[in-house]
Amino acid sequence: MKSIEGFSKLSKQAKLEWIANNFFENPDEVVREFQSYWQDDPKTQKLFDEFSENTLTNFIIPYNVAPNFLLNGKMYAVPMVIEESSVVAAASQSAKFWKDRGGFHSEVISTVKIGQVHFNWHGDFQKLKKFIKHIKPIMIRNAHPITRNMEKRGGGILDIELVNMTAFDTDYYQLKASFETCESMGANFINSVLENFAATLKGEALGYEEFEGDEHDINIIMCILSNYTPDCLVRTWVECDINKLGTVEGMPAEEFANKFARAIKISKVDVYRATTHNKGIMNGIDSVILATGNDFRATEACGHVYAARNGRYQSLSDVKLDNGKFHYSIEVPMAVGVVGGLTSLHPMVKRSFEMLGNPNSRELMMIASAAGLANNFAAVKSMTTVGIQKGHMKMHLLNILNQFNASETETAQAKEYFKTNVVSYTAVRNFLISIRPTVTENKHK
Ligand code: MEV
Repeated sequence: MKSIEGFSKLSKQAKLEWIANNFFENPDEVVREFQSYWQDDPKTQKLFDEFSENTLTNFIIPYNVAPNFLLNGKMYAVPMVIEESSVVAAASQSAKFWKDRGGFHSEVISTVKIGQVHFNWHGDFQKLKKFIKHIKPIMIRNAHPITRNMEKRGGGILDIELVNMTAFDTDYYQLKASFETCESMGANFINSVLENFAATLKGEALGYEEFEGDEHDINIIMCILSNYTPDCLVRTWVECDINKLGTVEGMPAEEFANKFARAIKISKVDVYRATTHNKGIMNGIDSVILATGNDFRATEACGHVYAARNGRYQSLSDVKLDNGKFHYSIEVPMAVGVVGGLTSLHPMVKRSFEMLGNPNSRELMMIASAAGLANNFAAVKSMTTVGIQKGHMKMHLLNILNQFNASETETAQAKEYFKTNVVSYTAVRNFLISIRPTVTENKHK
């Protein structure tokens, strides 16, 4: 077994060499390859290295843009960081389609974030309720050094609520606190305040006279923000007269609208379809979240729980066909920030914000959700008309050609050939064989 003590204390070069020597057959080549992705400017590289731990190199993922996003009357070019071919093409195609039909509309419904202090206490619940009411102002006062700056910006603690969880576990309670974190996602802020609350909770309980006969000792289990933020919510929609949809991929507008609505209905009633449907939405949302240095795992986790809020996992988007109108919308919770964390450090995140006109966090929620809706529209539109593979395979063709080191001329010939032939790995390989004598896959480009 190849294990090591004190790996994190080694220099980056030593870490790389240890990994290369112990886990690869050709260590010198591996070291060179990893190093080839280092930034030339050591200052920039140091910045990236310090985002994380035990960094060996940079893992490149394309930084793309989907232009022509008309959102609330303003035109955006939306940066999207994603590796999946066709996502950006799909978003761009939808943006263009809706630009000519009034664009995307969006409103932030609320921006409340949540954090919890989980604790155990043994005694009379009514006394605990009274105690929490008594210490609420003390908790808020004690947390003031942490909340002061946020308050200056218009945010801070909104409420602290005691939740009785003893139906689920003996002596289990929560403080459920709500926050406004303005332009930041607020994870560090919320967690620091919660830990401060916990210290006050425990400390005040020890000297609380009315606990006579009950336990004075409150056992703090843990303090942490919740990534489920159903009240940090954005709603985004597009709408037009059904006949203004035009002929969609050869399908008359009315027929398309009805088929589209059926497809959305399926993602409301079938969990297998709903998951894929929402994955398509997340293609758009996550790409923007990544390009703007936000936490896509948080957005994903929250979005999927929200999709199941009615006790059944369903599509996040919805469509209504009323009075000859096509109204298609998404409602999705999203805790994002435009200050703090990676947003202030990553040079490309700064550029993303600049490209978006330096949005505030509410605007960013609207932009990301519009990208989600755009991707969803493109996917459902393709599936209900020409099929998803047409667009996917066009993009996938380039990836396969790259695997075979295709030259520019070969790529151009292949693009022409596969306009009328089905793309597959084998089909591309056979095509290349037909135009050149030997074909080998480029595994380590
Ligand atoms: C692929 O990344 C996304 C889709 O599967 C989404 C969908 O099925 O709605 C095309």
